[in-house]
Amino acid sequence: MDNYEKITELGRRRGFMWPAFELYGGAAGFYDYGPLGATLKRRIEDTWRQFFVIQEGFAEIEAPTIGVEGIFQASGHLSGFSDPLTGCKECKEVYRADHLIKHIIEVPDALSNEEIYKVIQENEVACPECGGELSEVYEFNLMFKTMIGPGNKTQGYLRPETAQGMFINFPRLLRYFRDSLPFAAVQIGKSYRNEISPRQGVIRLREFTQAEAEIFIDPRDKTHPKFDQVKDISMKFYSQAAQEKGEPEEMTFGEAVGRGIVAHQTLAYYVARTYQFLLAVGVSPERLRFRQHKSDEMAHYAADCWDAEVLLDHLGWIEIVGVADRTDYDLKAHAAQSKVSLTVFVHYDQPVKRKKLVVKPDMKALGPRFKGQAKTVAEALKAMSVEDLKGDKIIVQVGGEPVEIDPSLVSYETVVEEIRGEEIVPHVIEPSFGIDRIVYTVMDHSFYEDVVDGEPRSVLKFNSKVAPVDVAILPLMDRDVLVKPSKAVLDGLRSRGIRVDYDTSGSIGRRYRRNDEVGTPYCVTIDYETLEQGTVTIRDRDSMKQVKLDAQRLIGVLEELLAGDRKFLDAGVPVVALAAKEQ
Ligand code: GLY
Repeated sequence: MDNYEKITELGRRRGFMWPAFELYGGAAGFYDYGPLGATLKRRIEDTWRQFFVIQEGFAEIEAPTIGVEGIFQASGHLSGFSDPLTGCKECKEVYRADHLIKHIIEVPDALSNEEIYKVIQENEVACPECGGELSEVYEFNLMFKTMIGPGNKTQGYLRPETAQGMFINFPRLLRYFRDSLPFAAVQIGKSYRNEISPRQGVIRLREFTQAEAEIFIDPRDKTHPKFDQVKDISMKFYSQAAQEKGEPEEMTFGEAVGRGIVAHQTLAYYVARTYQFLLAVGVSPERLRFRQHKSDEMAHYAADCWDAEVLLDHLGWIEIVGVADRTDYDLKAHAAQSKVSLTVFVHYDQPVKRKKLVVKPDMKALGPRFKGQAKTVAEALKAMSVEDLKGDKIIVQVGGEPVEIDPSLVSYETVVEEIRGEEIVPHVIEPSFGIDRIVYTVMDHSFYEDVVDGEPRSVLKFNSKVAPVDVAILPLMDRDVLVKPSKAVLDGLRSRGIRVDYDTSGSIGRRYRRNDEVGTPYCVTIDYETLEQGTVTIRDRDSMKQVKLDAQRLIGVLEELLAGDRKFLDAGVPVVALAAKEQ
């Protein structure tokens, strides 16, 4: 078994995740998260909120997961959101055509359907199921259609990305942020894509969770005020040029922007924040790179895009985040579709002075000629442009009637006007995270096996930010005399918001193994010394060190450990009798 098979098996057996609808035979592309998986996922989402909602000050919103047709006409999903498909002429199975040639062409996204078909033919790629001949390549739209209300009158679609919810709420969000840039809104929620043949567990789902931020910025200035905080971070950049050489380049963010490898500070800042977030939830930096999209691979809305890609056992390099500069594509498209202006008035630092030719009606002449209507005529003249007044005769509308005016009654003057700002269409920077893929990556990158006391041990080395269980309470024996104080400890920890599991079945060594396997960072053992001396034992998953302490100190010490402060363990004297053998 490779790690992919081991983690998939562990995921099912221990309550992380499994294929949905098992009772009814299942359906590819849908997964259930069980008790541990749902908690792991929620904690990863909460860490994301810490980074992007709390620390960046972005606003979290919640829009419907069904959208009306106009949204997807504007966004381009109706016309362009499709994948290339091919079918087996023998067994009728259908496949993502580009996936079938990935071992031949590293990035097949850039190829047309005809080119993909040519690669299939030239390389004699056959049906993976039966070896049959494959059909020509054609497009398949990935959106799920539905009807809104009875009568089949209104077509709706399950959203293929959460992003559109932020774009179409732009006017309200702008008002919420007091009409000034930059600002950002985020959503964490379900999106839907009718994938052609999803076969890789939670890596490719038809219903999946995205966490997306749409950051609206002033396009005239793409520097970032906090860039200095990330400029010295060093990371592997797999730029377009580096891809030509086949080797990512390690450099700092400062260097990447300085050399023009990442287009601007704002894009680089959010790539850096993405990098920090991924490390914080347990993605290994050794198996992570940021790959720039090639120009012919870029989504229809993007000017530049960097994908966080992770190396996974069995699956290879997989994209888990995309950070794109979507420019003004979406706002312009929605403005054109909805006929609502989606702009921001931006104030200049200093008002700009500009000379302007304006119309100056001759009131001395207009008064006697138009009497009570002279003022209305003058206003109508002022409202006309200088170009419109250049003809032989001038016609203005007065009270709905055309009135001819002699051009000699109109003169012009130059005035200096002060311009305080202008209407602009913001650009959008979008970090888009595939949460399910991140959940799986955290499992893959945390998984290892070793041998303890001659017995194999599997470990999910989750950090305490995301581990689904913080602490396991283990009475040495399932006897009333130990169960009672154990339950008291359990209640005390739970009342402090610590996620605790309670386990009395099997030997203590077996219970340690079970907790290692699901990534519980700490176990607390309650034994006869707890009754006699008031002590308990904390056992650390990673070092397997066991340290005794006064039960009164337990909550405080665990809170320190869970916050990442390990000095108690490092200073504590190991319990020799228990630590020598984990039986
Ligand atoms: N919003 C980008 C994506 O869903 O791919």
